[in-house]
Amino acid sequence: MARHGGAPHRLPARPAGGAGRGRRRPLPHRRRRRRAAGGGALHRPARWPRPGTGCRAAPAPGEAVVITGASGSGKSTLFRALAGIWPFGTGRIALPPGEALFLPQRPYIPLGTLRAAICYPHDAAEYPEAAVVAALEQAGLGALRDRLDAVEPWERRLSGGEQQRLALARALLLKPRWLFLDEATASLDPEAEEHLYATLRRELPETAILSIAHRPAVVRHHDRVLRLSEGRIGPA
Ligand SMILES: Nc1ncnc2c1ncn2[C@@H]1O[C@H](COP(=O)(O)OP(=O)(O)O)[C@@H](O)[C@H]1O
Ligand SMILES: [Mg+2]
Repeated sequence: MARHGGAPHRLPARPAGGAGRGRRRPLPHRRRRRRAAGGGALHRPARWPRPGTGCRAAPAPGEAVVITGASGSGKSTLFRALAGIWPFGTGRIALPPGEALFLPQRPYIPLGTLRAAICYPHDAAEYPEAAVVAALEQAGLGALRDRLDAVEPWERRLSGGEQQRLALARALLLKPRWLFLDEATASLDPEAEEHLYATLRRELPETAILSIAHRPAVVRHHDRVLRLSEGRIGPA
C-alpha cells in the first residue's frame, strides 16, 4: 500500500515460518545496530506493543479511533512501525489496501512552493487550483492563497501551528483511505483543534482516522477510544 508522510522505508523481511508468534532472536544486523547505538539507544522499546497485540479493531471508512496512553507508552512508535519507518523489533505488521497518510506532530515540509508542500507527496499538477485553495481555506490558511506558488523556506516561515494546518490541508486535499494523526493538532489552540477535527470528519467521510491525542475536546471527536498500556492496546 502507499505510505506517505515518512521515509519510504520498509520493515525488514521477516524470518520464514510466520511472524507474530512470540519473541525471536534478533537478526544479526539488529545486534550490530544495538552495539553501534551504545548499548541500546536504538532498539525495540521495552514497552513497545508485543507482536500480535496491535489494534485489531480497524476503523471502518468514516470512523475515527483515538489511541490514548501515558507518555512513553509507545504510541508514536506504533505509528512509526505502521508507517514502515521503525525497522526494529519482531512481529508482523500488515495494513489493509488503500492510501495511508501519516501526519506526525512536526510534519515534513519539502523545499519549494507552498502548493508543492500541500500536495506532497503527490505532484502538484494532479490537483486543480480550486481544490488546493479549498483545502487551504478549510485548514485556516486562506490568507496564504495568493502565495501558493511562492518558493520560500516554508518550514521556517510558518509557525508550528501553521505547519500543522498545512499538514491538515494535505489530508483534506489527498483524501487518503487511512489517516494517522500523531498529536498532529497539538500546537493549535483548543478551539482551532476542535474545529479542524470537525472539518476532517465532515470533509473526509470515506477516510478512517486513527489519532493519538490527549485533550478531551479532541477525544470527543472520535467514535472509539483505545488505550495503549504495558504494550497492550484495548478499549479505554
Ligand atoms: N529512536 C528511539 N530509540 C530508542 N528508544 C526510543 C526511540 N523513540 C522512542 N523510544 C522509546 O520508546 C518508548 C515509547 O516512545 P514513544 O512511542 O515516543 O511514546 P509515546 O508516543 O507513547 O509518548 C519510550 O520509552 C521512548 O523513550
Ligand atoms: Mg508520541
